[in-house]
Amino acid sequence: MAKVKSKWVCTECGYETAGYLGKCPECGAWGTLVEEVQFTSKPQIKDEFINKEKPELLKDIHIGEEVRVSTNISEFDRILGGGLVQGSLVLIAGDPGIGKSTILLQTSGELCKNNKKVLYVSAEESASQLKLRAQRLSINADNLYIYPQTSMENIKTQIEEIMPDVVVVDSIQAIYSQNVASSAGSVSQIRECTNLLMHIAKSKNITIIVIGHVTKDGNIAGPKVLEHMVDTVIYFEGDKYKSYRMLRAMKNRFGNTSEVGIFEMCTDGLKCVTNPNELFLNERSQVAVPGSAIVVTNEGSRPLLVEIQSLVGTTPYPSPRRVANGVDTSRVLQILAVLEKRVGLNLSKQDVYVNVMGGIDVYEPSADLGIALAVATCARDVVVDPQTVIIGEIGLSGEIHPVNNIEKRLNEAVMTGFKKAIIPYANKVTDNRIEIVPVKRLIDAITACVSAQ
Ligand code: TYD
Ligand code: MG
Repeated sequence: MAKVKSKWVCTECGYETAGYLGKCPECGAWGTLVEEVQFTSKPQIKDEFINKEKPELLKDIHIGEEVRVSTNISEFDRILGGGLVQGSLVLIAGDPGIGKSTILLQTSGELCKNNKKVLYVSAEESASQLKLRAQRLSINADNLYIYPQTSMENIKTQIEEIMPDVVVVDSIQAIYSQNVASSAGSVSQIRECTNLLMHIAKSKNITIIVIGHVTKDGNIAGPKVLEHMVDTVIYFEGDKYKSYRMLRAMKNRFGNTSEVGIFEMCTDGLKCVTNPNELFLNERSQVAVPGSAIVVTNEGSRPLLVEIQSLVGTTPYPSPRRVANGVDTSRVLQILAVLEKRVGLNLSKQDVYVNVMGGIDVYEPSADLGIALAVATCARDVVVDPQTVIIGEIGLSGEIHPVNNIEKRLNEAVMTGFKKAIIPYANKVTDNRIEIVPVKRLIDAITACVSAQ
């Protein structure tokens, strides 16, 4: 396979050029151009992708039964939508050391208990290292094959020979295919290897789980196409320095994407956390402090109670600082703008820090009101009653929008021992287990907090 020429392709927008450029002229991104090598003859493997099937009429298509295999790990099953779908390609991405290899070795062990044959391809660790980890995790499986290998072609041969039910590839950045001249981990290699794995998964009906590393800015290393190619994308999140971890489905062709699975990293592996609210709230200080508010976000099918903290103080800098951890910074800026314009809270000379406790990321707009109250109470040096939960999305004119699943959220708050809930007026419900304060505008919510002092 002779190399004819190489081209440089932008991983962000697909712009192509003959030579390297630091900045993409098309999308303006820096350092995103990567080399791709073109060949005179097409790689042979591509022929396998030629589909011999003919188009079928929709009415004649027979739906085969979707076969799901339980991983025996309840939180993992939850984000997968009830178990691994046979013949699917799943990508698990996360920072180094977060626990990707651990959870997949545990999953492999559990699958073997269900009489499944598993092939664990380790491109990063040796067989003895994996054996040590398996001992630590007390995995005793007869049907678990460990294969330290980096060549995609060898992996394919072994899959065809062993014909496992599930294959784990640890990691996609460490394997390479001979069809592509660039080194392992390059965009072309990742694309080629994923393509091959996808083909194996679909043609042989084998479930393949692929591990992917993430870059400094939190994206999966490699092209965005990787996410498009696979059936399911799961991110492993959490604070490496704390014991809990979260699996979040970002894309799932076979289930709900907003599901979250929560685990605790123990000395003998990852354990499912069945009551996450205790975990997220147990770090709270028992004394009420200004700038703290409890919100109820709805992660998939389960509401989560999370503490939002804020610190507001006069800035020593020429322009005030705005720092947000665990929530979108632009969302916080919008809430601050509403607080200034609609409530009259002057923050132009104040630094504002907003932090979500527990290392969890909150994406849901129902946390808006909690963020606003954390900032407003800190600025005014009053406290939000620690027995109160705050639920509501804020509109630009300061109105409070309703949220979905209010009963579920309130139920969770009651179960966790909260006595009062500030909720959107449009969500008004009667619940005699908890005092409900329905609010129409942001100012009403602030007044309700301040007048309760
Ligand atoms: P690992 O699964 O190797 O992470 P990744 O594959 O995402 O890079 O996890 C490594 C970390 O987990 C390491 O710091 C040690 C810790 N760990 C435990 O705390 N308990 C355990 O039982 C295991 C296996 C690992
Ligand atoms: Mg690993």
